[in-house]
Amino acid sequence: MLYTLMHRDVKVMDVEMDEFANITALGKIYHAEHLPIGTYNKIGVDRKILNKWWMNRSIPASRQGIRDVLDTLDISSAQELIHKCFGLSLSDQYWISPVDAPLDWKSINFFDNDFSEDIGNVLFGKGKSSDSMSLFSPDNTANGNLKKKWKILNGKRVLVKGSSAPYHQEAYNEVIASMIAERLGIPHVTYGLINEHDEVCCYCENFITPETELVSAAYVMMAFKRRNEVSEYDFYIDCCEKLGIKDAREQMEKMLILDYLTVNEDRHLNNFGLIRNAVTLEWIGMAPIYDCGNSLWFNKIDSQINAEDDSNIKCPLWKKNPSGNLELVTDLSVFDISDLDGIENEIYDLLSQSEYLTQDRVDALCDAICTRMDMLDDIAQGIEPSESEDSGMTML
Ligand SMILES: Nc1ncnc2c1ncn2[C@@H]1O[C@H](COP(=O)(O)OP(=O)(O)OP(=O)(O)O)[C@@H](O)[C@H]1O
Ligand SMILES: [Mg+2]
Repeated sequence: MLYTLMHRDVKVMDVEMDEFANITALGKIYHAEHLPIGTYNKIGVDRKILNKWWMNRSIPASRQGIRDVLDTLDISSAQELIHKCFGLSLSDQYWISPVDAPLDWKSINFFDNDFSEDIGNVLFGKGKSSDSMSLFSPDNTANGNLKKKWKILNGKRVLVKGSSAPYHQEAYNEVIASMIAERLGIPHVTYGLINEHDEVCCYCENFITPETELVSAAYVMMAFKRRNEVSEYDFYIDCCEKLGIKDAREQMEKMLILDYLTVNEDRHLNNFGLIRNAVTLEWIGMAPIYDCGNSLWFNKIDSQINAEDDSNIKCPLWKKNPSGNLELVTDLSVFDISDLDGIENEIYDLLSQSEYLTQDRVDALCDAICTRMDMLDDIAQGIEPSESEDSGMTML
C-alpha cells in the first residue's frame, strides 16, 4: 500500500508498506529536511535504516505479555498495529497518510484528539472489551519492554507503566529517581504512582508537545560518523554539540551521576536523547531524564543488594557498571550531596507501601541508597574508598 510519510502536516516522502508496516520501497521525497535524522546520508535515504527506524515505533516482541495480546487481537505481529493508528505517536511527530485517501494531521494527532484505551487495556491483560474495540491509540507506537498505556488524565496525556515480578519495584524506582533528581536540580520527568487495573504502576506526563519531538540517542549518533579514536561516549557528545546543544556534556554528566546513585542498569540508546522542535527543526536540548526503573537491584535477590560493589550490575553503554560510568564525569562538584539529606525517610515511606517488598528488602534498599550517597560524596571530595570510615570496603 502507498503512503506518504508525514511530519506533522508536512509531507516528507512517499513509501510503500506491506501489511506488517515494513517499508518495502521508497518514493518521491517532498521535504528532505524533515526526514528522520540518522536515516539518510549524502547519497540518499537508506530504506533498510528507515525501515528499522519505523519498526522501532512498534511494540517490541520482548514486551511483557505480548503473546497474550496478539492472541486476544488475533493478529500475528505487533507491527500490524502500527497501521491501526497511522503510526501516530505521542513521542514524536511522524506518521503515515494513505496516498489514495490523505488524512489531516490536525484532526487525527493524539496530542489534540482523544484516543481509545482499548488496546492499552488489552496490554494490561484485561482481554477484549467488545468486538467493536477501537485500536486507534498511541499505545501501538509506544516502545519499551514493560507493559504500558497512554491515558488522558485531567486533560493531560500521561504514560502509565507497570513493573515486573517478583519485586514489582520498577514503578517505585521511577518515583525514587525523580525524587533524587528533583532535589539535585537535574532536569527529569516526574513520576508518581497510580493504580491501574489493581496494579501499582508509575505514571508521568508527556514531555513532548505538538510542536516538539524526542529523538533517541541511537538516531542522533546515526547521523554522524565516528572516528575510531573517539569513544562512543565522547562521540555522542560531539554529535549533540554539532547539532548546537552546548551543554551536552554537563547534562550527560548529571545523568551519569543520577544513574550512579540509583545503580541504573538500563541506560541504553533509546533511554535518553534530544528534543527537537518539529516545526522549526531546531534542536532544543537534552530530553529530561526518563526511564530509570531498571535500577536499585530491581530484579536481584536481597543478598545481592550491595551498594559498595556494583560489579554484578552490567550497563549496556560505555563502561561495565555504574561506578565505571561515573569515571566519565569530569565535574563532580556540581551537586551538594547534603541536598539529599533525609531523602531516605521519604524513600522508606514510599517503598513500605509495596506489598511485594519485605521489611528486610526495604531496609536494605534504604541503607544501600544512603551508602551510595556517601560514596558519591567521598569520590567528589577525592577520598579513596579505603579512607572512608564507614565504607567497610577492604582494598586489595
Ligand atoms: N513522558 C514521556 N513523554 C513522551 N514519551 C515518552 C515518555 N516516557 C517515555 N516515552 C517514550 O516511550 C518509550 C518507552 O518508555 P520507557 O522507556 O519508559 O519504557 P520501558 O518499557 O521502561 O523501556 P525499556 O525497554 O527501555 O526498559 C521511550 O523510549 C520514549 O520514546
Ligand atoms: Mg525505555
